[in-house]
Amino acid sequence: MQRLGQRVMADLRRFLYARLLAQPPAFFERRHSGELLSRFTADVPLVEFSVAQALSSYIKDGLQILALLVTCALIDAKLFLFTFVVMPATVVPVARFARSLKKVALRSQTSLGALTSLTAEQLQNLPVVQAYGGVPRALSRFDEEAGRYFGEMRRSLFLRGAFSPTVEMLGIAGVALVVMWGARAVSAEPALAGRLLSFVAASLLLYQPVKSLSGTFSQVLTGLVAAERLFALADEPAPPDEGREAEPLKQALVLEGLRATYLDGREGLRGVDLTVPAGARVALVGASGAGKTTLFSILLGFLPSSGGEVRWDGVPLRELKPSSVRAQMAWVSQEPMLFSGTVRHNLLLGRPGASDAELWEALTLAHARDFVSTLPAGLDEPVGERGSRLSGGQRQRPDTQACPGCGTQGHDLDARFCKRCGTALDWKGP
Ligand SMILES: Nc1ncnc2c1ncn2[C@@H]1O[C@H](COP(=O)(O)OP(=O)(O)OP(=O)(O)O)[C@@H](O)[C@H]1O
Ligand SMILES: [Mg+2]
Repeated sequence: MQRLGQRVMADLRRFLYARLLAQPPAFFERRHSGELLSRFTADVPLVEFSVAQALSSYIKDGLQILALLVTCALIDAKLFLFTFVVMPATVVPVARFARSLKKVALRSQTSLGALTSLTAEQLQNLPVVQAYGGVPRALSRFDEEAGRYFGEMRRSLFLRGAFSPTVEMLGIAGVALVVMWGARAVSAEPALAGRLLSFVAASLLLYQPVKSLSGTFSQVLTGLVAAERLFALADEPAPPDEGREAEPLKQALVLEGLRATYLDGREGLRGVDLTVPAGARVALVGASGAGKTTLFSILLGFLPSSGGEVRWDGVPLRELKPSSVRAQMAWVSQEPMLFSGTVRHNLLLGRPGASDAELWEALTLAHARDFVSTLPAGLDEPVGERGSRLSGGQRQRPDTQACPGCGTQGHDLDARFCKRCGTALDWKGP
């Protein structure tokens, strides 16, 4: 059962991660990555416990309880009916406990998410926090959030602690009723004594499985809340990667009255007309906030257009498979984005399978050959988290290699198309 639980959880983790990887940037604008991470680190293990541990105990204890109830009914049906009419009475307090516990579990899990988000953000921006004397403020915000989490956990532990004794009390009340009723019945009909004894013995045997079931019940409820949070993530619609395959551009990329509206209603583009013939080198120049990045977000399928049309050799962009359009583009993000592997690892993202000679050629084009060759391990030098072991300018250079064959430079341009393959670059020079 535990192996099965582990397998289910591994599949769930993978499914959720695949879901996240398919989400457009707008999805992450509404959420904090720390909060999403807490679902993987905290919620998945809670569900894991419910599935792996509690489920097996539920089956074992549930079967025992069922068998003992049948035994009691067979011993004396009347006594059984009388005694176990108290059972429905237990449903009310149990349901109330369950509701409160679920509420507290949801609040504590949300609070843990907020705590993770806060910590991740402060640590990521630690140089700024330290430079501006923000450490005491960071610590007091942490204390505030941690205090909230601690309070929720205390409430949750109190409820869990109170749950088992309540169920046990109800059980004892049931047995006491049997004894009372039985004693009266036996005084009227002494032959019943033997059956009463067997009945009480069978009812007492119920104690252990009921106790163990109620012990894991609260954990199962917490697991259920965690599962709800995970399923909410799984239910997020991800844009499907479907449509016709985009071929390399042969004629032109045409934008007709292209509009873009962000989730908050702000307009990124208000009717752009532009024709880019295949192979042409076109620079998009405009004031900050003019909409250059927005335009590339639409071309890359990160943002849906809210009006107008983009035609790729005459075919509307929305009819093309987004991943096949992306495969025709080389995009250099305005903000340098490096992964915490080596220089090679980062370069290969642009063209998996490129040879060392091609990588050095790409580095030459990006004016990065000199500094990479001075690194102790050259191409195999780790760049640190988000390129933290490189200088600000150096960080941008391996990044520009998303289009290694392009060769176009021009540090004064913000956005342009690659002449060689008609691909789009949205590039901020160092
Ligand atoms: N995620 C977003 N949510 C809401 N509005 C946005 C978002 N991103 C951009 N905008 C708004 O859309 C407009 C166009 O932004 P965009 O990023 O395309 O400008 P840009 O031309 O690339 O500017 P820059 O040269 O500064 O990079 C701006 O008014 C901006 O505030
Ligand atoms: Mg921009």
